[in-house]
Amino acid sequence: MTKPLLIQGATVVNADREFKADVLCVDGQIAAVGPDLEAPAGADKLDGSGRYLMPGGIDPHTHMQLPFMGTVTRDDFFSGTAAALAGGTTSIIDFVIPDPQEPLMDAYRKWRGWAEKAASDYAFHVAITWWGDSVHRDMGTLVNEEGVNSFKHFMAYKNAIMCDDETLVNSFRRSLELGAMPTVHAENGELVFLLQAEMKAKGILGPEGHPLSRPPAVEAEAAQRAIAIADVLNVPIYIVHVSSAESAEAIARARARGQRVYGEVLAGHLVIDDSVYRDPDFVKAAAHVMSPPFRAKGHGQMLWRGLQSGSLHTTATDHCTFCAEQKAAGKDDFSKIPNGCGGVEERMAVLWHEGVNGGKLTPSEFVAVTSANAARLFNLYPKKGLIAAGADADLVLWDPAATQTLSVKTQHSLGDYNIFEGMTVQGKATHTLTRGHLAWADGDLRAVRGAGQYLKRAPFAPQFAPLARKAELEQPVPVAR
Ligand code: URP
Ligand code: ZN
Ligand code: ZN
Ligand code: ZN
Repeated sequence: MTKPLLIQGATVVNADREFKADVLCVDGQIAAVGPDLEAPAGADKLDGSGRYLMPGGIDPHTHMQLPFMGTVTRDDFFSGTAAALAGGTTSIIDFVIPDPQEPLMDAYRKWRGWAEKAASDYAFHVAITWWGDSVHRDMGTLVNEEGVNSFKHFMAYKNAIMCDDETLVNSFRRSLELGAMPTVHAENGELVFLLQAEMKAKGILGPEGHPLSRPPAVEAEAAQRAIAIADVLNVPIYIVHVSSAESAEAIARARARGQRVYGEVLAGHLVIDDSVYRDPDFVKAAAHVMSPPFRAKGHGQMLWRGLQSGSLHTTATDHCTFCAEQKAAGKDDFSKIPNGCGGVEERMAVLWHEGVNGGKLTPSEFVAVTSANAARLFNLYPKKGLIAAGADADLVLWDPAATQTLSVKTQHSLGDYNIFEGMTVQGKATHTLTRGHLAWADGDLRAVRGAGQYLKRAPFAPQFAPLARKAELEQPVPVAR
């Protein structure tokens, strides 16, 4: 049992406001928030003066222990969530990705087993990689019995996990019925397949072929298609890792028409550009191979504007660590380089530094895009994403004056590369609490293997109600003749 903890004198930041208050944590929950709280007998105290106290980060897109492209990511659910805690992130939403034809429930149980070692709380989006009666049925079981309220659709990765339009349409419709959010990886897999072959035919075999085979229009086409399908079916849609101006514009346009489209941005896409793929060192260039790729300068600015204007909602990392010897599988063919980069530990600091210090976000907006919005969209709110009595004591104490230089040498992730290498950022998680347990304290990582809990998420998050009402009001009727 964790002792009660009183955090005194910090500036509490929620998505709606900031205010000075003490916060008392008892039995893993926030027991009270207010001025000059009394410490119960035996309580520990933590001085928060000069710091911000924020809801622990929620990374809604990670891949721990993912079997992908013939290998398995370096970080498992323990090392990955421990790294997350060191950076102020206290919950992840990872992905169950069934092989085509694999029963959903088998894949789900496999992932639940792998995740038992997690040090932070976790939930799962489940990928729909094929269609059939059993998939339709298992989606219902997952939502109604297992607390899954979002499904993922890969529009890329042809001949592997890509789903065609028939599967998209069937799954979106079923998601709506169940009150689950459909999400998409938006890239046109057919175009990627064709362009990869064309690049190789031109003799482009190195990592520079990766972005050339996945230009922004490939992403924008898929985003627009998914948005249009969702519009026709009257279902909300969440687009993961929006990386290009074109895709961000498609979302903004749809939202301006009143459609419930939500967008996620990765910390990496906000600050890194595609020059990395032309690095003469294969190891460095390959370390950045992820999909969608890093983009030409200018796209990042449009993603920031999306976050600022409210057309993009969450920030994630797509944390998916493959090390140099794994990336070497694509030494002579960029299309065989396992796709994925890290970042779960750095996301909060990068967002704070570039966002808040960079004059783009208020601290409350930072909380919105690093935890509260994800909590609301995926129905974890107000247990997560909010500092209030009754919420889980998932907290990050943030020193806005502390600086740190991000590096593979100091990271806790087991990856052997840091895409933010050498970046000096101001703003740092000095303490992280997961359910009241101090898992990170002034550089001391006390992550507990298996302490993380699986988060069951109820269906029908708030965005579903207006859609149901709209469907009711717009019910088509036959003409009486
Ligand atoms: O390159 C990436 N992003 N790897 C992980 C799988 C995915 O597409 O999210
Ligand atoms: Zn993806
Ligand atoms: Zn991903
Ligand atoms: Zn403890």
